[in-house]
Amino acid sequence: MSTLHDLSWPEYSALSIEQKVPLLARPDGMPYHTLFAQQFGRKELDRICALATKIRFIAKSREGMAFLAGLLPHKRAMIYFTQPSSRTFLSFLSACQILGMRTGEVRDSAVSSEFKGESREDSIRTFSSYFDLIVMRTQEKGLAEHSAWALSSSDRPVPILNAGSGKDQHPTQALLDIYTLHRSFEKRGGLRNRTVMYVGDLARGRTVRSLSNLLTNYEGIRHVFVAPPQLQIGQDILDMLRAHGAEYEVSDDMRAWLPRVDAVYMTRIQDEWDETKGESARIDTSRFKIGPDEMRLLGPNAILMHPLPRRDEISTECDSDPRAKYWRQMRNGMWVRTALIAATFDCGEAIDRY
Ligand code: CP
Repeated sequence: MSTLHDLSWPEYSALSIEQKVPLLARPDGMPYHTLFAQQFGRKELDRICALATKIRFIAKSREGMAFLAGLLPHKRAMIYFTQPSSRTFLSFLSACQILGMRTGEVRDSAVSSEFKGESREDSIRTFSSYFDLIVMRTQEKGLAEHSAWALSSSDRPVPILNAGSGKDQHPTQALLDIYTLHRSFEKRGGLRNRTVMYVGDLARGRTVRSLSNLLTNYEGIRHVFVAPPQLQIGQDILDMLRAHGAEYEVSDDMRAWLPRVDAVYMTRIQDEWDETKGESARIDTSRFKIGPDEMRLLGPNAILMHPLPRRDEISTECDSDPRAKYWRQMRNGMWVRTALIAATFDCGEAIDRY
């Protein structure tokens, strides 16, 4: 079987996602490079959720924290974020700290040698010379994937974790979203036969694209995409769901759906992607916001999620409602990213034995 470094970039990029997945995996099936959501099947998702829960409990004691910090003190991580971030950056930083890793960071290409004209490829190769893991968030779709391929033929093919690439993928956000859904429903029949409603800017929101992909691993999930027509989900995601035999609806009537769903996944209008000035501001988004009136329509056992940051699509009056899970969702990101890094470096069994 070919490995990543046997293939030229045109050969690799011509492969289907299904053909790429084994090239990016560790022998145990977990991703070595985490680049897109489709790398996670049900087995890998169950493993990440179980590891995150175990880590969460171990971290409650001083002895447990000392154990976790002893797992990877010999590894260093580069956190390379050239797009703004609070949660993803800080949760990856915290995850590295929990596992005892030391970190370096570049948060603006204007302060690296890219400013002097160095290519992204050479920059990544430079990071791999000093670090054992690269976590990257970029404006460009596919850059993490290209970097993983480029490093594969170097003497330091260190793992790359995609922390958000263009409008396309945010696989680790989707992992923490799955973990939040899993935790919310684990004592109430589990994450199957649930209706998940995504609301807001679905055209440009990479979190919805990655999450809808991951949810195809769960039986009977029905997807409802609610947005103004200009911001509706891409046809490629609908085609993907159809290919998986998943049920979906496309709507612009959030209030009609609120009583009928198990989870609401709100998203912000992503006007940073506007191609013309004021383009998003001209779209009427007033019917895609949640406040106390909308919470009254939502079922008593349903949950409200948001990848955050939010603007006004969820009013702060919702924060104290027990169905609002977005702050827990955010903290879950730290546990899930710790679990992912631990799995990437084969620490899962040591954590299981603790
Ligand atoms: N959810 C998310 O990716 O948040 P940040 O942009 O703050 O990292």
